[in-house]
Amino acid sequence: MKKLAQKLIKNHSLSEAEYELLIKNRTPEIAEILQNEAVRLRKQVYGNEVFLRGLIEISNYCKNGCYYCGINCANKECNRYRLTEDEILNCAIEGYKIGFRTIVLQGGEDNCFTDEVVCDIIRKIKKNCPETAITLSLGERTKESYQKLYEAGADRYLLRHETADKTHYERLHPEKMSFENRMNCLKNLKEIGFATGCGFMVGSPYQTEENLAKDLKFIEEFQPQMCGIGPFIPQKNTIFANEEKGTAELTTYLLSIIRIIKPNILLPATTALNTIEEDGRVMGILAGANVIMPNLSPKTAREKYNLYDGKAITGEESAEEVKKLEKTMEKIGYKVVYKRGDMREYRKEDENGSI
Ligand code: 5AD
Repeated sequence: MKKLAQKLIKNHSLSEAEYELLIKNRTPEIAEILQNEAVRLRKQVYGNEVFLRGLIEISNYCKNGCYYCGINCANKECNRYRLTEDEILNCAIEGYKIGFRTIVLQGGEDNCFTDEVVCDIIRKIKKNCPETAITLSLGERTKESYQKLYEAGADRYLLRHETADKTHYERLHPEKMSFENRMNCLKNLKEIGFATGCGFMVGSPYQTEENLAKDLKFIEEFQPQMCGIGPFIPQKNTIFANEEKGTAELTTYLLSIIRIIKPNILLPATTALNTIEEDGRVMGILAGANVIMPNLSPKTAREKYNLYDGKAITGEESAEEVKKLEKTMEKIGYKVVYKRGDMREYRKEDENGSI
């Protein structure tokens, strides 16, 4: 097993079968080797900087019926809301004043957010918050739509692939949704020029180590700029209400592996990880993550954006939360920075001092 870890460290690549072995036969000792290498690589590319993203949850209306998700269209218990353009802009401006230089607009697939509406919001944020990157996380759209959003000024797009295994994908989603379309959307986003993020849940129902190995191989081949992973957490109004949740142990193990596969990737310590563990963000950063996404949504919206149960919601104002976060990161030797936080270059040659 140690040999396999070393092979990954040397090549930033393994075969699917090897990834599977590395997951199946993991031990605390291997986890430590991978974690140390992940931290070393992250420091090489990003020093001790942690990037912040201000997350605005713009709507929990969704036309999709993803079985795992609390805001899926079949959930009649979900209290729906949609922020107005002004509310979104005000959240962004508030975040900008605190120092955020990336704003993430995330929401369910809500038909009210037409290209026109979203483009208008993008332009307004760009005008009012100079030097700010805009990340969108609004699900599957047509290539033409993505193109328009890009031209309006959006910089990045997050669309988790959820699982790189077609059969597994079909067990997590209703027939209307297709694995091919999801993958095609990711390809389109990259082609258009978005900094593109994929990702998956750890411990989702029916997930096998083989599935996870496929996720890792997909990340290796797709070379996304960002990757969001977090534990699956059951939501009481979904058909997966009684399923097991994912673990922090496997999530952090995979974070370290993903950092090694792509040393310069932008890798968040996600809210889901912070939900199952009180110090999930610290655990994520110490495993190799370099991004944290505090919530800028109005409090009433945060409470309704329930993808899963028990979502970590701090009652504090965003400004206070960020101050606390600065201290928490300082304690473990990291520094929260107020920059756009684009992906940096990684050159393996730099390790030998020659370029
Ligand atoms: N547990 C953890 N993560 C979830 N997501 C959706 N539902 C859950 C859940 N029950 C994740 C999905 C989605 C992202 C926005 O949130 O991966 O892409």
